[in-house]
Amino acid sequence: MQYCLLGKKRKNRLFTLIMLLTVLLMVYYSVDLSVPVQHSSSDRSNSCDRCLSYYETLEPGWSNDFYDVNQKSLAPAEDVIKLVTRIIIFSKCLQQGGRRNVQRLRNVEKRLFPYINFERLETDETNFWHSHTRWNGEVHHASVMEFDRKGHHFVRSRPINFDTGLSFWENWLQRITQSGSRGIVISASDTQLDETVRLLKVLRYFKNDYPIQIVHNADLSQDSIRLLVKYGRSEDTPEYPAQEIWFSNVRNLLSPKYSNKFATYSNKWLALIFSFFEVPILLDSDTVPFVPIDEFYKLEEFQRTGALFFKDRIISNDLFESSQLDVLKEIIHGCIGLNLTDESDIHEKIEDPTVVQVLENMLIKKHKHHLESGLVVLHKDKHLFSVLISVALQFSPISEYFHGDKDWFWMGELLSNNHFTFHPVDASNIGQFGNVVSKESTGEFYQICSVQLSHTDKDGSLLWLNGGLNVCKKASWEYDYEHSQRLADMFQDAEALRKYYQSPVKLEGIIIPDANISGWVKSGECFMFNYCTLFKEAQFGKAIKFKESEKRRFSEIVRIWNENVF
Ligand SMILES: *[C@@H]1O[C@H](CO)[C@@H](O)[C@H](O)[C@H]1NC(C)=O
Ligand SMILES: *[C@@H]1O[C@H](CO)[C@@H](O)[C@H](O)[C@H]1NC(C)=O
Repeated sequence: MQYCLLGKKRKNRLFTLIMLLTVLLMVYYSVDLSVPVQHSSSDRSNSCDRCLSYYETLEPGWSNDFYDVNQKSLAPAEDVIKLVTRIIIFSKCLQQGGRRNVQRLRNVEKRLFPYINFERLETDETNFWHSHTRWNGEVHHASVMEFDRKGHHFVRSRPINFDTGLSFWENWLQRITQSGSRGIVISASDTQLDETVRLLKVLRYFKNDYPIQIVHNADLSQDSIRLLVKYGRSEDTPEYPAQEIWFSNVRNLLSPKYSNKFATYSNKWLALIFSFFEVPILLDSDTVPFVPIDEFYKLEEFQRTGALFFKDRIISNDLFESSQLDVLKEIIHGCIGLNLTDESDIHEKIEDPTVVQVLENMLIKKHKHHLESGLVVLHKDKHLFSVLISVALQFSPISEYFHGDKDWFWMGELLSNNHFTFHPVDASNIGQFGNVVSKESTGEFYQICSVQLSHTDKDGSLLWLNGGLNVCKKASWEYDYEHSQRLADMFQDAEALRKYYQSPVKLEGIIIPDANISGWVKSGECFMFNYCTLFKEAQFGKAIKFKESEKRRFSEIVRIWNENVF
């Protein structure tokens, strides 16, 4: 493995290396001189402390706080390589035994993770920690939460016993998170109340017994909490069981400068990182599972790598500029030594064929959209530092390269040389089949236009979708009616279109389009969220028509999601 210690030019590299060696030697001897003979030999080599002295070779005043700069980085690739390297080296240092200078450790982590309110942790620990509120109103402040491993019910909480000799993240993983704990995490604010209620209802339909933690950044009101508890718990029956719901406001943990930067999709990082589960399954509020949650933990991709990522729509009209790709290539080369200009290097160094495909889609076809983060499973013991890199990238000089949080998930994994993959089945369009009239009479020719993006397993079974379960969740009927001739022809007025938009979807089947021939095309409807895809028998695409039994099962889920609430 190669780290991004070094810049682009050879001279630079040599210089840095020599500097680093010099400092390491200096630290080595200074430690030796100051410590008497009893000092054990294992302490001398590779101690965490000596590893941390790397940070003293950096320019004084270095920081991973790029958000603050608020100006265009003059050398984005170099800046990002430095940013990532500092986090990777830190995680490596923590793995080294031997003595560690706690003050040095604290100084480094403060600069690496500027969004954590370390100052408060040091001066006012009680008020640094967050609170977890259970559905019954019980508040567990500064607590480690414990759930039953099999039945997943809540067992007890105990006070956090922060070990000041360890880093914050070691404390987080070893002392604050219950080992092996699993559960559902949803990032939600008042804006997502309606969808979150509907998601809870679907989880009840599946008799979910995993605890559900709703993480917010002080943007979920007491009224919303009351409604979530009502729809998640009232009329408890074995067929429709009450859910073990928790609410966690993580704002305390964040430094004031950053607390407002975690908004909309950035809130998902908070949910993932600060959830009390070690192995959370992160759901968007408009995600709808079509199998019990357990099935996601069982998927081979997760079992093998500790991470489960699904693919996004292949969008071929929103592409990278060549200059952006050059920056990404430089970053990837700087961080893991992978030369993306060299096809054979990709095949040699990346074993996973799905990751190779994604890299080629990005480099050759210039695609920007690869990962759909509406449902993600991560084992934090193996992936926490990769996620911390994702967060750093989200706030870095290249934050605008991808849309939202989605693709930072896999970039964090890639740049930290972590083991990851994608669920190999391409994303699909789900809904009603429309026949396409074609001059040639041979074969079936269908179209699906919908807002919902679905994900199927290798056997074609439906796993989950996102986009909710009504025709269009956006309040765009007035605009769309004005601007779409097709809609104006189909509906009498905007009010009729509104009724249609808010009506339940009909799930007849899916199309996985062949992006090489006929890919995802925006219809212009539903605030541009609606996409059309084509399937032509024996020519392109793949279509799956649901069996009658599946249609009945799915329509029950559609019905539950669409029931009147509030
Ligand atoms: C990457 O590979 C290309 C093609 O083989 C080569 O021209 C280039 O110099 C390599 N880049 C680096 C940084 O090694
Ligand atoms: C699309 O083309 C690429 C090569 O450009 C190929 O690897 C891929 O398999 C093709 N996809 C389909 C669905 O045929």
